[in-house]
Amino acid sequence: MRGFPEVDAAQALLAGTMRKDRVRGEVLDLSTMGGLLGSLPGVTLRAVEGSAAALTVLAAAGLEAEAAVPGDDLRTRWPERARTVALVLAGDRGNAYALAQVAWAHACTPPGGTLYLAGDRDKGYDRYVRAAAKAFGTGETIARDGGMRVAKLVRRPGPTPALPDPEGYEAFGVRVVGLPGVFSAARPDKATSILLGTLESLDLSGKRVLDLGCGTGLIGAWAARRGAEVTLVDGDLQSVRSARATLAANGLTGEVLHSDVDAALGDRTFDAILTNPPFHVGRGVVLDVAREFIAAAGRRLNPGGTLSLVANEPLPYEAAMGGIGPARELRREGGFKVLAATRAG
Ligand SMILES: C[S@@+](CC[C@H](N)C(=O)[O-])C[C@H]1O[C@@H](n2cnc3c(N)ncnc32)[C@H](O)[C@@H]1O
Repeated sequence: MRGFPEVDAAQALLAGTMRKDRVRGEVLDLSTMGGLLGSLPGVTLRAVEGSAAALTVLAAAGLEAEAAVPGDDLRTRWPERARTVALVLAGDRGNAYALAQVAWAHACTPPGGTLYLAGDRDKGYDRYVRAAAKAFGTGETIARDGGMRVAKLVRRPGPTPALPDPEGYEAFGVRVVGLPGVFSAARPDKATSILLGTLESLDLSGKRVLDLGCGTGLIGAWAARRGAEVTLVDGDLQSVRSARATLAANGLTGEVLHSDVDAALGDRTFDAILTNPPFHVGRGVVLDVAREFIAAAGRRLNPGGTLSLVANEPLPYEAAMGGIGPARELRREGGFKVLAATRAG
């Protein structure tokens, strides 16, 4: 989850600022992560999260968070809007996503209510605060720590900004719907393209295929188009929505699950698992999730089933894949390698 393995720096400044401001009562937290704002004295948290990993952490802490993405209407869960809203901008997910967050925060804040908006100066904070201040009619930065910033905005009457439109493109015979903030929303990723190009002659007809970390759903939709029975999973709810939209746009069927790695997969097993695993959390290189992907493949492959993955050349996945079967290098191109390992039949 964001901030892993520590507390997100912007959220830490947000919590300190709200504590100094003596915020009390119901607080709608649109980026709850591990639930830090719930530790503020006198605050009752309305926790909202889109990360499956964070939702698991929150549930373990006894917080029943709402799984939601920018633009979702939260009134079915909380008919009355809270007077205080908090949000950490995910500037590293791109301009459209951060602007969608701002529009969402505006829609969730009642007139006269307050938004505490945190972000990173190096990830567009000034730009997004200007957009927020324009919508709210007022607002200023009230706290700074290193590159982190927190602004306080009180909502004056005025319209909520529109959500940015999804992006889209056609690749490998698939019409891809890329929602804001989803990996490779505007064009196919180079590594993913190399993976699909390498697997072109693979016969997937009638096979059970898992797209692990599906993002926009390009890989899973490509497999479904080739006659596979597909399951797509992603830990990010916005990606799950994007992948569902991609399948629908192509008239394809398949299940798309919101899942931290394979946690939501029950007892499902697969003949093929295809993945372009993540190796970043925010800006840092973190290989834990990719290793979890490989371990999950070891649990989920049927005998004779194959894990195929694409990775940057230097990333050392071969040893972990050895737990499934000897890692074979299918292709090396443009700084990437395609690896496969088959579970003994
Ligand atoms: C490199 S992207 C690949 C996306 C897509 N398959 C493609 O090729 O365009 C990795 C994906 O893994 C997802 N992811 C990251 N951590 C995850 C986790 N713990 N569980 C499930 N998915 C995760 C990300 O949200 C992202 O969509």
